[in-house]
Amino acid sequence: MASRIARKITKAVLSREQMDGDGARVYRSIGSHALRNLDPFLMLDEFDVRAPGGFPDHPHRGFETVTYMLDGEFLHEDFKGHKGRIGPGDLQWMSAAKGIVHAEIPANNSRAHGLQLWINLSSADKLSEPNYQEYPKEQVLHVSPEEGIDIKVIAGESYGVQSPVMTRTPTMFIDVKLKKGKTMEQVIPKNYAGFIYTVAGTALFGGDQHKSEAHHTLVLSENGGTYIPVESTSDDCHFVVIAGQPIKEPIVQHGPFVMNTQQEIYQAFADYQHGRNGFEGAPEWTSSIRDRWSS
Ligand code: CO
Repeated sequence: MASRIARKITKAVLSREQMDGDGARVYRSIGSHALRNLDPFLMLDEFDVRAPGGFPDHPHRGFETVTYMLDGEFLHEDFKGHKGRIGPGDLQWMSAAKGIVHAEIPANNSRAHGLQLWINLSSADKLSEPNYQEYPKEQVLHVSPEEGIDIKVIAGESYGVQSPVMTRTPTMFIDVKLKKGKTMEQVIPKNYAGFIYTVAGTALFGGDQHKSEAHHTLVLSENGGTYIPVESTSDDCHFVVIAGQPIKEPIVQHGPFVMNTQQEIYQAFADYQHGRNGFEGAPEWTSSIRDRWSS
């Protein structure tokens, strides 16, 4: 029988609140000073926004943004007229690739709470056509291997359930809720790098049973382990497992543009400013939702 190796937790970092966008509160995980980036991931924010806060008109190039709502509702609108509303449990997987300009704003006066993950694209995909994959709550696959274990398969696979989401950069994103005393094992490909982000409650994570509370980023060992064991120690245990295949290319990031070279960053700014190479119409565009909450 082949030996099974459990992933361990090699680093644990508590996220502190910070402000981003326009008066929007976020707990930054990956992408903070303590955790610069974790190839292929550039950033994970747990956002907790109330109007008039939000993320008014801004561009992206060179990567994908994944927005997964936990509570409340967000409106979004982009410069090509694509718009909508995402509510609790809804998923928006946006491949900005060569260029998206959009706004993300709370839909009402309630708390808008969720996760936004930035996944890098390889040089071959950075200037692809933008693409959306949108899954309302009812279409996000879930699996409950036993009572007290509830898993949503945002990307990748868990307990034999495979998400239909296409990931240009091979990625898994698993949302887990456990009742106290429940144990689960998440299978992970050997070559994936990743982390766990804890949203609520307490549990023991990984082969060393690392004890963690909420708002922590737990970096997984890269020992080629094939599974992650978790045992919940509270009734409200909620965390996500995010892992992917490292791209292993140089990363040059300037705010919302993530490319391979400084030259490509200058190009991104120039394209955005002059409305070309994917940013056609960007200079003239303003969203209809950006001033929703200003009086
Ligand atoms: Co954005």
